[in-house]
Amino acid sequence: MPLLHKFFLYFLPLLIAQATPLKTNPFNPFPSDIGCENLQYPYEILAPVPYLKECLSTINGLVVFPGDPNYYNSIKVANCRNSYFPVVVIYVTTISDIQKSIHCANTLNITPTARSGGHSFEEYGNGGKNGVMVIDVQEFNQININFETKTAVIGTGNRLGEIYHKLNKVGYLISAGECINVGLGGHATGGGFGWTGRKYGLTSDNIVSAEMVTANGTFISPINLTHHSDLFFAIRGAGNAGYGIITSLTLKIYPVQPIVTTIKISYLPEQVELAFIIFAKVAKNLNENLSGNMNLQSKSNNTYTFSFNAIYLGIEEEARSAVKELIELSKPAYIKFEETTWLRIVDSQPSFVRQPFKITSYTIPPSGFSQEAIRVLVNFIDNLECESIALFDLYASDVISRISINSSAFIHRNIFGVMELEQQLKDYSKDDQIKCVKKHLQFRQEFQAKYTSYFSYQDYIDRDLSDWLTRYYGPHVPRLIEIKKKYDPNNLFNSKQSIPTKLP
Ligand SMILES: Cc1cc2nc3c(=O)[nH]c(=O)nc-3n(C[C@H](O)[C@H](O)[C@H](O)COP(=O)(O)OP(=O)(O)OC[C@H]3O[C@@H](n4cnc5c(N)ncnc54)[C@H](O)[C@@H]3O)c2cc1C
Ligand SMILES: *[C@@H]1O[C@H](CO)[C@@H](O)[C@H](O)[C@H]1NC(C)=O
Ligand SMILES: *[C@@H]1O[C@H](CO)[C@@H](O)[C@H](O)[C@H]1NC(C)=O
Ligand SMILES: *[C@@H]1O[C@H](CO)[C@@H](O)[C@H](O)[C@H]1NC(C)=O
Ligand SMILES: *[C@@H]1O[C@H](CO)[C@@H](O)[C@H](O)[C@H]1NC(C)=O
Ligand SMILES: *[C@@H]1O[C@H](CO)[C@@H](O)[C@H](O)[C@H]1NC(C)=O
Repeated sequence: MPLLHKFFLYFLPLLIAQATPLKTNPFNPFPSDIGCENLQYPYEILAPVPYLKECLSTINGLVVFPGDPNYYNSIKVANCRNSYFPVVVIYVTTISDIQKSIHCANTLNITPTARSGGHSFEEYGNGGKNGVMVIDVQEFNQININFETKTAVIGTGNRLGEIYHKLNKVGYLISAGECINVGLGGHATGGGFGWTGRKYGLTSDNIVSAEMVTANGTFISPINLTHHSDLFFAIRGAGNAGYGIITSLTLKIYPVQPIVTTIKISYLPEQVELAFIIFAKVAKNLNENLSGNMNLQSKSNNTYTFSFNAIYLGIEEEARSAVKELIELSKPAYIKFEETTWLRIVDSQPSFVRQPFKITSYTIPPSGFSQEAIRVLVNFIDNLECESIALFDLYASDVISRISINSSAFIHRNIFGVMELEQQLKDYSKDDQIKCVKKHLQFRQEFQAKYTSYFSYQDYIDRDLSDWLTRYYGPHVPRLIEIKKKYDPNNLFNSKQSIPTKLP
């Protein structure tokens, strides 16, 4: 999750508790931005593609080309650090729209790319390169609940906030991330960790079935453990990496607890090292009803620098006992518990504001970081010119670890957690942004080599990551390539970080 959200969660809770989420301009889910340059597409690159308009003329949904009044709104995605300019954005409304689009992509030699919520860290919702065909699935927004099987068929165009709201009305939730604007399609197929992750697993762990349009326009349904089981393996962890356009996911749903408790624990700068070591020590014994993340910020203004924000799925008394050992051993400077409801937690998340940022990710082994690693990290965060934050999604979860690494494409299982190192760049000039990102990437290379495990989390995608195939998919790379060859032999769905049809 990151950027502002986690930070604000505990500071502005009740103020915005009434706010209802979303349903903004269909073209632009990011009504405001900070620090983004005006978009200006490169005419020489984007001369109209001959026959594209004609080819798409029978599409039922909206079709937006460069030069159309809504073109720039239709390509606004979460990150504006880079901008990529598609040759067309298609708001598909039916399977047939997707099939027609893919037919045109094939015949006119254009790369199609799926877009759900536009929250890819590297703007892969717009292809991550110029000249693609964006197939936006936001009209695929059904949510059909089956109370008998405790599952819901959910269109990939839904945003997490809408799903949480609709399910909460009937007392259920899905296990997914914390940012209400994130789209299900990109999120659930690459992992998905949030407030119930330690108890119910990642979103991808909760997929029981899916539907997809593949590279030759075939609509495949269902994709499950017994039908197209190879694809079922691939889409749970690598489903956002170029297998096709996923239109719906059937996810397990879980009952909402009537009362949940927020926990906020903070430490002073001088306590960081000890606190981190205590976390690693107690993590595997932490009650699974607790999920949260640690947040390491620069100590500017001498405020708290290290905090733990968590949700306990139950009453305060249980929450207190769940963190008793942690508190006794680490002696936080500040502790706060607050009973609330699941819906209030969802509603206290502010909408994400489009802005420039760079994020890298790291997986941390069960033993945590060494003291030296923490020092190196704190030193980096404190001394960089641009504001940086390290956020740690605390996995240390039996539920996630118990699932065999071979049962899906998602490999990050027996770990302490995932760290994302985040630079918010909105307050810096383009030159300073470039300098900061360069230092960040240099740091990443050294830090990852010395102090973390080899792997990175694919939902926190990073286009500058070396050996990314192995870092994201580990031993599954050959198998994922075989599956790609079967369903997309001509590599129609290709981006800088899609699964290739042969080993690089
Ligand atoms: C503010 C913010 C908060 C976040 N919080 C969390 C969090 O709490 N936990 C967490 O685990 N992650 C979190 N993330 C990361 C998030 O899970 C990924 O960025 C995710 O891929 C975004 O999905 P999307 O559909 O919104 O993005 P998009 O940009 O639309 O898509 C992302 C990728 O998925 C592909 N894709 C999208 N839809 C489909 C589809 N229907 N079929 C096939 N491929 C598809 C796209 O082509 C693209 O490559 C957060 C990201 C942001 C920006
Ligand atoms: C997969 O879907 C088919 C068709 O609906 C169904 O018969 C089968 O039981 C499903 N498999 C599993 C493991 O759910
Ligand atoms: C988690 O919460 C549920 C519901 O309150 C409770 O039944 C269960 O015992 C809790 N789990 C643990 C490990 O305490
Ligand atoms: C530090 O405090 C000053 C004055 O209160 C404020 O303007 C500034 O934004 C703060 N900086 C940070 C990083 O919080
Ligand atoms: C996963 O599969 C690989 C290759 O078949 C095998 O070597 C490995 O032992 C399996 N791992 C587990 C945990 O089952
Ligand atoms: C289309 O691709 C699917 C696999 O995605 C394959 O089963 C089918 O045979 C292909 N159809 C044609 C006409 O090539």
